[in-house]
Amino acid sequence: MTKVIAIIGSPRKKETYGAVLKFGEYIKSYGEIEFEPIFLHDYNLEFCTGCKLCFDKGEEYCPLKDDRDVLMEKISQSNGVIFASPNYAFHVSAQMKNLFDRLAFLFHRPRFWGKACTAIVTQGIFGGDKIVKYLNSMGENLGFYSSCGCVLQTLEPTTEAMRIKNDRKIKKAAESFYKALTNGAPSPSLFRIMMFRMSRTMIGKLQNKEYRDYRYFKELGWFESDYYYPVTLGFFKKIWGSFFDFIGNKR
Ligand SMILES: Cc1cc2nc3c(=O)[nH]c(=O)nc-3n(C[C@H](O)[C@H](O)[C@H](O)COP(=O)(O)O)c2cc1C
Repeated sequence: MTKVIAIIGSPRKKETYGAVLKFGEYIKSYGEIEFEPIFLHDYNLEFCTGCKLCFDKGEEYCPLKDDRDVLMEKISQSNGVIFASPNYAFHVSAQMKNLFDRLAFLFHRPRFWGKACTAIVTQGIFGGDKIVKYLNSMGENLGFYSSCGCVLQTLEPTTEAMRIKNDRKIKKAAESFYKALTNGAPSPSLFRIMMFRMSRTMIGKLQNKEYRDYRYFKELGWFESDYYYPVTLGFFKKIWGSFFDFIGNKR
């Protein structure tokens, strides 16, 4: 059974939560999906203290003892994740941002390959398009491949016309997420190849062999591979990959 979770960054169960439940109903109507909404507010996730032990020594050295690993395990057990947040001051909510801060070590050593992600943003007026892009890029930095997502206008009191329009957007986003989920991971973009090749050159050259990133790349054979996961790169992507190695070495 395909498992999808929705990570909800709103502090209240209202518009964002309602949109997520509707999204879940749509994807469940397309195929065999087990759907679980995860309300971040119900979990104990403390603020990062900036010690960087997760980056340097390993995530197990984090001094904060809270629900971070529970949330990571939920992501690991899923095939797809919906990141849903209200627009707060032109960005994601603090709860959602805190989750990304706490998982930022994974940007160095991504783990969630082969999983799809998308984004739902609710807002009063405007600014949500950039937030959807941000959420999708955070997902990609964690290893996911993304599908378009949606921005919903939820200025209170909501009208029937707004609800109909939002419902249409949710349905469209749910369809493309479901398609992405069933099609599987696409070939990595040049940008993603560049990110991989340049960061591995940096890790290989600058990091002491005790560093967690270095050990992780070594253990997974990433210093020799074309990309993070087994993929056949076409001729041009291979050439670009070598070019990014060259530039990384020069820098
Ligand atoms: C603290 C706060 C900041 C907000 N900032 C914005 C904003 O910058 N732009 C916007 O369009 N809406 C903004 N809103 C409106 C919310 O995005 C909107 O009401 C959203 O639907 C709330 O989601 P919820 O019902 O899940 O709580 C803000 C709301 C709050 C409470």
